[in-house]
Amino acid sequence: MRAVTISGPGPSGKLSVSSLNPPIAGQRDVVITVAAAGVNRADLLQRAGYYPPPAGAPDWPGLEISGTVRRVGPGVSRWRAGDRVTALLEGGGYAEEVVVRESQVLPVPDGVDLVDAAALPEAACTVWNNVVDVGRLQPGEWVLVHGGSGGIGTIAIQIARALGAHVATTAGGPERTARCAALGADLVIDHREQDFVDEVRRATDGRGADVVLDLLGGGALGDNVRALARGGRLVVIGMQQGRRGELDLSDLLARRGTVTGTLLRSRPADEKARIVADTEQHVWPLVADGRVRPVVHARIPFAEAQSAHELLESGEAFGKVLLVP
Ligand SMILES: NC(=O)c1ccc[n+]([C@@H]2O[C@H](COP(=O)([O-])OP(=O)(O)OC[C@H]3O[C@@H](n4cnc5c(N)ncnc54)[C@H](OP(=O)(O)O)[C@@H]3O)[C@@H](O)[C@H]2O)c1
Repeated sequence: MRAVTISGPGPSGKLSVSSLNPPIAGQRDVVITVAAAGVNRADLLQRAGYYPPPAGAPDWPGLEISGTVRRVGPGVSRWRAGDRVTALLEGGGYAEEVVVRESQVLPVPDGVDLVDAAALPEAACTVWNNVVDVGRLQPGEWVLVHGGSGGIGTIAIQIARALGAHVATTAGGPERTARCAALGADLVIDHREQDFVDEVRRATDGRGADVVLDLLGGGALGDNVRALARGGRLVVIGMQQGRRGELDLSDLLARRGTVTGTLLRSRPADEKARIVADTEQHVWPLVADGRVRPVVHARIPFAEAQSAHELLESGEAFGKVLLVP
């Protein structure tokens, strides 16, 4: 099979199409013919040599795919050849075929195009787990979603709205803020022009956000805590403004706030299975009834994988970039 592999740590030029042996299904595995693979920031980090795949995972990138079941292991009962599915992977999605545990496979939600469905698993699982399980967002509460224009943010805005929360989000520039508003955000903050702490406080009558979904990390730590309401929960999932930050603990104590963070990729299989099952139970109905839609910026062929990485790195994509075999 063809796959997009990394010849060594470095820039996008290290990506190329290679020929590999097709995967074999173990007892509880599903082999899927890939229709599309989502491109994630983690893939860029892996290519640059900063985020090695977990033990046992393929060493070519790709954390999510959509496609058609080709064959299943003898212990698989739910899936059969021909099923239209999406899947959450530990790696290896940039390939014509993948093998994945059956517990990390989801059906393509009703009404969603097979290719576009590749934009959903990583974002939906990450958002559900962090905003609802960890962040405990309740209807009527305010959530601040950083990077509302990104692959995670576009899904987070829609899920939070569908749950009955008020959504504030940050994005860069007038076109991207307008598109976040069209996705349902109540307050869109242009971080190039506005201070998000001031804007969130103004919108909430000084109270602050009950949950902050953060992908900025260190550089925004202090401001994120200052944007929290009493009892607020800051959930850090990314470090786009660095690994280290400074926090005035009096801001946290005064709010009785919580700062926490998670990673999805390296979770044990049983935790991933639970997150995938919860996502299918709670998010897939929102997708099927049209309240949550995948937002796809571009579909790019495997042969042009370098430009797919460059597009994500440029910060110009709105929503997800997909690779198609
Ligand atoms: N912990 C986990 O389990 C997990 C899972 C999935 C993803 N993640 C992380 O979540 C983050 C977002 O992923 P994604 O797929 O949504 O990426 P993405 O599609 O590239 O979106 C990120 C968005 O953040 C904004 N942004 C980037 N750098 C910024 C900066 N320095 N200051 C302010 N805004 C900035 C950009 O929008 P504007 O230019 O419009 O502001 C961009 O659209 C990544 O760091 C990724 O690694 C974590």
